[in-house]
Amino acid sequence: MLGRVLCTVLLVGALPSPAAASQGHISVILLGATGDLAKKYLWQGLFQLYMDQVSSGHSFTFHGAALAAQEEGQRLMFDVLKKLSCPPDEPPNRCAVLKDQFLKLSQYHQLKTAENYTALNREIETLLGQEGLKEAGRIFYFSVPPFAYTEIAQHISSSCRPPAGAWLRVVLEKPFGHDLESAQQLAAQLAGFFREEEMYRVDHYLGKQAVAHILPFRDQNRRFLDPIWNRHHVERVEVVLKETVDAKGRTSFYEQYGVIRDVLQNHLTEALMFLIMELPANVSSAQEVLQHKLQALQSLWGLDRSSAVLGQYQAYDSQVQEELQEARGRVSTTPTFAGVLIHSDSPRWEGIPFLLTSGKALDERVGYARVLFRNRAYCPQSGSLRDAGHSQCKPKQIIFYFGHGALGTPAVLVSRNLFQPAMPKDSWKEAEARSDLHILEQPLSDFYMYSPVKERDAYSVLISNIYHGRKDFFITTENLLASWAFWTPLLDSTSRQPPRLYPGGVENQQLLDFEMVSGGLAFTLAEPAELLSPSRHMPSDFRAIQSKFRQSPLVSAWAEDLISQLASDMEQAALSSVARSGHFHLALSGGSSPVGLFQRLARHHYSFPWQHTHVWLVDERCVPLTDGESNFQGLHRHLLQHVRVPYLNIHPMPVHLNQRLCVEEDGGAQLYAQDIVALVANASFDLVLLGVGTDGHTASLFPRSETGLEGAPGVVLTESPVKPHQRMSLSLPLINRARQVFVLVLGKGKHDITTLLSRVGHEPSKWPISGVSPSSGQLVWYVDYEALLG
Ligand SMILES: *[C@@H]1O[C@H](CO)[C@@H](O)[C@H](O)[C@H]1NC(C)=O
Ligand SMILES: *[C@@H]1O[C@H](CO)[C@@H](O)[C@H](O)[C@H]1NC(C)=O
Ligand SMILES: *[C@@H]1O[C@H](CO)[C@@H](O)[C@H](O)[C@H]1NC(C)=O
Repeated sequence: MLGRVLCTVLLVGALPSPAAASQGHISVILLGATGDLAKKYLWQGLFQLYMDQVSSGHSFTFHGAALAAQEEGQRLMFDVLKKLSCPPDEPPNRCAVLKDQFLKLSQYHQLKTAENYTALNREIETLLGQEGLKEAGRIFYFSVPPFAYTEIAQHISSSCRPPAGAWLRVVLEKPFGHDLESAQQLAAQLAGFFREEEMYRVDHYLGKQAVAHILPFRDQNRRFLDPIWNRHHVERVEVVLKETVDAKGRTSFYEQYGVIRDVLQNHLTEALMFLIMELPANVSSAQEVLQHKLQALQSLWGLDRSSAVLGQYQAYDSQVQEELQEARGRVSTTPTFAGVLIHSDSPRWEGIPFLLTSGKALDERVGYARVLFRNRAYCPQSGSLRDAGHSQCKPKQIIFYFGHGALGTPAVLVSRNLFQPAMPKDSWKEAEARSDLHILEQPLSDFYMYSPVKERDAYSVLISNIYHGRKDFFITTENLLASWAFWTPLLDSTSRQPPRLYPGGVENQQLLDFEMVSGGLAFTLAEPAELLSPSRHMPSDFRAIQSKFRQSPLVSAWAEDLISQLASDMEQAALSSVARSGHFHLALSGGSSPVGLFQRLARHHYSFPWQHTHVWLVDERCVPLTDGESNFQGLHRHLLQHVRVPYLNIHPMPVHLNQRLCVEEDGGAQLYAQDIVALVANASFDLVLLGVGTDGHTASLFPRSETGLEGAPGVVLTESPVKPHQRMSLSLPLINRARQVFVLVLGKGKHDITTLLSRVGHEPSKWPISGVSPSSGQLVWYVDYEALLG
């Protein structure tokens, strides 16, 4: 039937170009054709695509698909199609004819079984054969729940791939996992069926006009922005999405996700990246945009519990109980409000706060991303006496306004005291500067304001970009995993934390106000007692427990609390050492365990006497210092570049001498030992921080190592069973001269070795860590609950 229809549509001389099919045919298959998203946005977006591209030289057919049987599905789908609307800027006659054609080119398919997919493929092939059309490509739009992805992907890949020479584009809707691990799994499954360039993961914020215009705006206004788009001029960057609705009716979804997974991990992060990424030389190059965006994501500092404030509107719990039929007394800790403070260590943004905020049941519906500039001016004359809009004393900001709120349309606003921006006249028009309307507490007349000439729904923008193959409007696998890698630690560390309760709407008053304090965020007001429900007191397991391990003091807690305790103890040790001797000689290990500790030290310990601290390495891998595997580089990235240790007090291990790595004759180990003797009194470090490997190694001293386990205190070259094999390490006798040794052990993976160590005696050749026993100093174990208890 479609064959005949396509033929008639192509022959209708009236509107579309008769040369239509010269570029080939595109089949669009919408899976979930009768679902909510399809009803609300996707069919309208496809119709818009047809209206825009009817003369492009491509011919189209549209295949709606769902599980429902043929007749029922057909009826449901056409109920939706009949209601498609004509955009206000489209001549009504043309639109009516095109709509009629669109309906004729659309057909419903039941897609349930493997045979159904094979049949669809056959139908497309037959149709193209009959019409003598060349196939350009196929778009499969997955508007289905994620659990259905794999099966559908398998069917498409095995029986619906277009022939060679034609492209395949599969469009995927979130959620893409709920943490790093699940996202990796889903990505690995999909990678079994589709190539990376075939996948288009939708984040519909990238189709919002104000968000999509951030990069073009930065590009077209380079001459104004280049000097000021940096940490010297920007005070902070905010991305905000406030909703008035709550989660009622959606709690089965919401309870699993919460506000961070629902909007911060994806929409708000994406908008932030467009603001902070380095601007590519060519903003039309998808590859450059994606690469710069990925770099921006990777430049963000890790988050911890103090990076966020979390809230939950009061009625949420009872809605969950009602909708999910949960037992009474079960308390949900799912946040419905979050403020998160983010930092980047890129040279452009170092030290500048980025705030992401979103919540349900708030006082207004509004979304925007803004860059607020520092104000250096002082204006003695009162504001009313001058040209107010241009006053240098007014706030200076650039706002990308997503829509809704006071303005009701997407907009780009630039403070009049900044500059008048260049905007593309065919797509953005200057709006009237009204002083009776306010945005973020400033009259609109303070801004140059632009709104889109044609307002386009995000989905129709995205569908057009799928058609054009613009991958920079979508989320790549690398981008997705980098984003989850960034957010997952915060989700883990706050999963047990009770959010602050808030009443909802205007009654929230100042309850959700928060502020930046010592590197993190905190609510400004204390929580009023009447809002605290009694069941919300947390178990006592947040306290660090203290006892003994291998006859030495043991500190144990959940990882994050443990690290904060360890950081304070280190600061204490540093302060007393500086008071005693004027300096603090600290030897640090590399690897992944201490990363959280380094970040914490860099961020929260402002009284740490870094000026008087010497930083030494406990061990090093025999790689150049510029190599990502270098312990020194990790230390630099997570700690040294953020604190003020004098350059001359930093002592990397000399593993790279005479353009070669760790060669005995070059004497690197001896040089390091000589430096220690020359600078550290009695070769006795004030504090050595160690870790433990699953095989019982510590520093780079491995079981049955021929050097370093006994003999004279010194520095040795050793062999590791894992790559890179060559290492340089402090010897056990040198470590044992230290005044204090702290051993940090984190994670389930260390449970077996921790259990073993609690039983064995002094056997350094089997388990080098068991040989750590400072001859006149103190040893303290910091072992988290997961390592201790499994
Ligand atoms: C889909 O496949 C099933 C089983 O192979 C078949 O019974 C059904 O008729 C097919 N649906 C359509 C619309 O062809
Ligand atoms: C920018 O990238 C686009 C898309 O890849 C390309 O068509 C265009 O030629 C590039 N422009 C320049 C100046 O290189
Ligand atoms: C030097 O270190 C050794 C070994 O730790 C220790 O026994 C001795 O007391 C130290 N001497 C001084 C002066 O600190």
